[in-house]
Amino acid sequence: MGGIFQRLIAPEERHKFGQHYTNEDLVDVVNAFCIRKGEDVVFDPACGSGSFLVRAYHRKAYLNPGGAHQNRIGELYGSDISLFAAHLATLNLASRDINEEENYPRIARRNFFEIHADKPFWQLPSGLRGERTTEPIFLPKLNAVVGNPPYVRQELIPRRGDKPKPKLMQAKEDLFDLCKELWGVELTGRSDLHCYFWPASTAFLKDNGWFGFLVSSSWLDVEYGFALQDWVLRNFKIHAILESNAEPWFEDARVKTCAVILQRCDEPKERNEQLVKFVRLDAPLAEILGERAGENSRQAAAEKFRDIISRCKQDAAKEQFRIVVVPQKKLWEDGLRTGKLFALQKQRDLAEGILPGKGGDDDEENGIYDENGNGVLHDEGGIGYGPKFGGGKWGKYLRAPNLYFRIMERNASRFVPLGEIATIRRGITSGCDAFFMPRDVSQEILDKYSKLEWNDAPLHTHCKRGEVESGKVILVRAGDGTVHPIEKEYLKPELHSAMTIYKPLIHAGEVESRVLMVNKPKSAIHGTELDPYF
Ligand SMILES: C[S@@+](CC[C@H](N)C(=O)[O-])C[C@H]1O[C@@H](n2cnc3c(N)ncnc32)[C@H](O)[C@@H]1O
Repeated sequence: MGGIFQRLIAPEERHKFGQHYTNEDLVDVVNAFCIRKGEDVVFDPACGSGSFLVRAYHRKAYLNPGGAHQNRIGELYGSDISLFAAHLATLNLASRDINEEENYPRIARRNFFEIHADKPFWQLPSGLRGERTTEPIFLPKLNAVVGNPPYVRQELIPRRGDKPKPKLMQAKEDLFDLCKELWGVELTGRSDLHCYFWPASTAFLKDNGWFGFLVSSSWLDVEYGFALQDWVLRNFKIHAILESNAEPWFEDARVKTCAVILQRCDEPKERNEQLVKFVRLDAPLAEILGERAGENSRQAAAEKFRDIISRCKQDAAKEQFRIVVVPQKKLWEDGLRTGKLFALQKQRDLAEGILPGKGGDDDEENGIYDENGNGVLHDEGGIGYGPKFGGGKWGKYLRAPNLYFRIMERNASRFVPLGEIATIRRGITSGCDAFFMPRDVSQEILDKYSKLEWNDAPLHTHCKRGEVESGKVILVRAGDGTVHPIEKEYLKPELHSAMTIYKPLIHAGEVESRVLMVNKPKSAIHGTELDPYF
C-alpha cells in the first residue's frame, strides 16, 4: 500500500513535503504503545497513504472486535498536504469494509498547521445518493497522535518574505509563533520541519494522551533538538525511544530515524519517577516480532514487545535488542548541568572579550526572524536554550557500546564533563582540509632521502635538507599526496580527530596534523616557502 504511494508521487513533491512510506511492523509497535482502547480517538497529522491509520483501524478491531466499521473510521483522523496522499489514505481506510454506502473516513487534504480546534477540520459528505450534502467536522480531543511527519531541512522551509510566496507550506516564522503560542516553547531557527509537528499536534491531546512519532534521530544530539528535549521533559513522560541498528526504517530516507513514545503528563512527580527506555534493535523488527499468521497474532506480537520494553526496570542486553534504562529525572538533571556549563563558558568568553555569537563558525544564522525584522530571536551564539536546561546527548544511550555503560556503572563519580575543567570552543572549519590541514612528514622524508639523494625527494618546491633538519622548515603532505616545504611559523599543531587519541594527555609535539595559519599581509610572505602559493 505505502510502496505504491512512494512510487507514484513525483520526486520533487516527495522531496519538498518529505514523503516516505513507513514500515508497518514499526507502525504496529508504535500503535501498540499509543492506542490502548478500542474506542480511542487517533490522529495522524501527516498521514501519507495512511499506514498508521490503517494499522490503527486493525488495532481497534483487535481491542474491540464487536465494534462497527462506522465507529472505527469515525475515531480515526488524518491530514495530509498532498491531494494524492489524502486520497490514498481515504481509500485505504474506506476499503477496510465496503458493505455500507456511507463510508467516509475523516481524512482532510490540509496543511496540518492550519488546523485549529475551533474551526472545521473537514467537510464530510453526509446522506445517501440523491440527498447528499456536506457537514463540517471538528478535530476532537485525542487519545493518541501518531505518525511519521515529514523531514524537511530548515534551509528548505520557506521564510515569511520569500518571493514568490511558497504555495501550501507554512513560513518558518508562523511555525515558530504557533508552537510558542500553544506551549510557550521556542524552537530554534535550525529546527527541521518535523520538530514543529510535535508541539502543534500534541496540543490536541487529552491529559495522559499518547504520542508516537517516527522522526529523524538528530533531535537526540544536535543543538536544535535541545529545545524539544526541554519541552518534552517538562510536559511528558518519555516511555521509549527506539532506533534500529539492523535496518533502515524507511526506504529512501538518508537520515537515521527513531521512534519516540511519549505520554502527556502535567504531574512533575510522575515525570520524575518515569524510567526512559532507550531501545536499540540489533535485528530487523520482523525477526524480533517473529512469525505472525493473521491480524490477531500481529497485534499480540507488537504488544508483547511493547510489554517487554515497558516492564524493563534495568539495562538489558539481549541478542536481538538492547534496552538502556535512564530515569527521566537524570536526563533533566544532566541537562541542567549542561546549562550551567554553558553559563560558565559564556562567562569565560566574556572575560576573554569574546562576544556571544562571535565565537567562530557557530555564528551561522540561528534566529527565526529575518535580518531586518523585528523580534529577532537568536540563541546567543548557539549555546544553551531556555533559562536553565542546556540539552543532552541522548544518542549515546542508543549507540554507545555496552562497555561504556559498564565503565560508567562503576566509575561515573570519577568523571566530570570536560567543560567543567577546560574551555571548549568550536575548532576551525577550513573549507578544504586537504589544503589547510596537511600532515607533518619531515621525519619520513629525512629518513628516506639521505644528503646525497635529497634532490630526488618528491617535493613540490625545492628546499635545503638542512632547513628541514634544523626545524625551520616542515615538510607537509597535503590531501592530494603532494609534499610541500613550509616555514614552521605558519604551521600550528592540530589534533584532527579524536580517533587518534590514545591517552589522556597529548602534547603538541605528538600530533602529526598541522594547520596552515598565515596572519600576515601578502607582502610579508614574499620570498618565503609560501610565496608560490599566493
Ligand atoms: C513521511 S510521510 C508519511 C508517510 C506515511 N506514514 C505513510 O506510511 O504513508 C510525510 C507526509 O507528510 C505530508 N506533509 C508534508 N507537509 C505537511 C503539512 N504541512 N501538513 C500535512 N501533511 C504534510 C507529506 O505529503 C507526506 O505524505
